[in-house]
Amino acid sequence: MITITVNSETGYNILIGKGLLFSCGNSIREVARGQKVLVISDTNVAPLYAQAVVDSLAENGFESDLFTFPAGETNKTLETVGHMLDAMSEFGLSRSDLVVALGGGVCGDLAGFASAIYLRGIDFVSIPTTLLAQIDSSVGGKTACDLESGKNLAGAFHNPQLIIIDPDCLSTLSERYFNDGIAEAIKYGCIKSKTLFNRLLTENPVDFIEDLIEECITIKKNVVENDFRENGERMLLNFGHTIGHAIEKYYNFSEISHGEAVGIGMVVITAAAEQNGLLEIGISDKITACLKLYSLPTHTTIPFETLADLAFADKKRRGSYLNLVLLHDIGESYIYKINTSKLESFFNGGL
Ligand SMILES: NC(=O)c1ccc[n+]([C@@H]2O[C@H](COP(=O)([O-])OP(=O)(O)OC[C@H]3O[C@@H](n4cnc5c(N)ncnc54)[C@H](O)[C@@H]3O)[C@@H](O)[C@H]2O)c1
Ligand SMILES: [Zn+2]
Repeated sequence: MITITVNSETGYNILIGKGLLFSCGNSIREVARGQKVLVISDTNVAPLYAQAVVDSLAENGFESDLFTFPAGETNKTLETVGHMLDAMSEFGLSRSDLVVALGGGVCGDLAGFASAIYLRGIDFVSIPTTLLAQIDSSVGGKTACDLESGKNLAGAFHNPQLIIIDPDCLSTLSERYFNDGIAEAIKYGCIKSKTLFNRLLTENPVDFIEDLIEECITIKKNVVENDFRENGERMLLNFGHTIGHAIEKYYNFSEISHGEAVGIGMVVITAAAEQNGLLEIGISDKITACLKLYSLPTHTTIPFETLADLAFADKKRRGSYLNLVLLHDIGESYIYKINTSKLESFFNGGL
């Protein structure tokens, strides 16, 4: 088993190991202050893994209950959070009890948010079951739900007490969702680790899945520890995301997945940097080659003007300057401040 300790405002451990799901109650015992645990999961994950979690909790003397919500991003709403809060209250969770979030990023974000606001904040443990949740969304303390007007617009910073990652859970994940997570792993390689990037180019990730998860989390943890509230270095994690979010919005968050959109975003921004002489030619081709290995798309037919409207009206805008995340090389990223009036020339390669 691998243990990573996150030293943020409230420190916690991340455990990584095959089969950990079946002994999760034992690990949860070490961080729990109360006796009651509400397990929150979605309708796809609960039938696969909830019984193992509930059994392990019972073996460790917990009284637990299971709350299941309908799977999918369309249910990442305040209404679902409301149902979770009702379930927590009906089960009689007190301030010293805890919630277990068992599922992908949607479950982790929702259950984390419900835990952040129930009785003004109770403990939660995250058991992420998608690759994206294991290497990205479960770490960093951000919890949220979507509003009619946009994604993740209501939320809170709330760290878990513990994250338990069992890579065996990934065996039931569809290839598309697995590759979706790989797009984020490629992103980590691009921004901080040429070694990781090269491994993704040459090896099958299934053969080094624990190393992969450990390396991605370590990168995210180091960045987040330096910048919990996202004013500086944490922006590097948004590499490929400004354009990626615009593509997701264009397709109304259906049709194209987050990782697929981010993949295209990484290629678009890197190619633009190359055309402006900010980066040696060829890096965007390397990223394209890596994405293609995982059947991830690498270009879009959406016109630039449409993408720009969608991308730069978003919440990360600061005054009339924007922060773009660019690469010096694979594994070396930096923030490039650009005046919004120069964006069009940047993306046309005529800066
Ligand atoms: N908090 C953050 O920092 C952060 C970061 C990145 C993404 N996110 C959020 O994460 C969400 C996306 O996460 P996701 O891709 O995990 O989506 P998801 O939770 O919807 O999971 C994807 C699908 O896989 C199913 N599933 C999950 N685990 C499975 C398993 N082991 N076997 C079979 N099926 C399984 C789910 O039921 C769902 O249908 C988005 O809402 C995004 O905003 C949050
Ligand atoms: Zn992402």
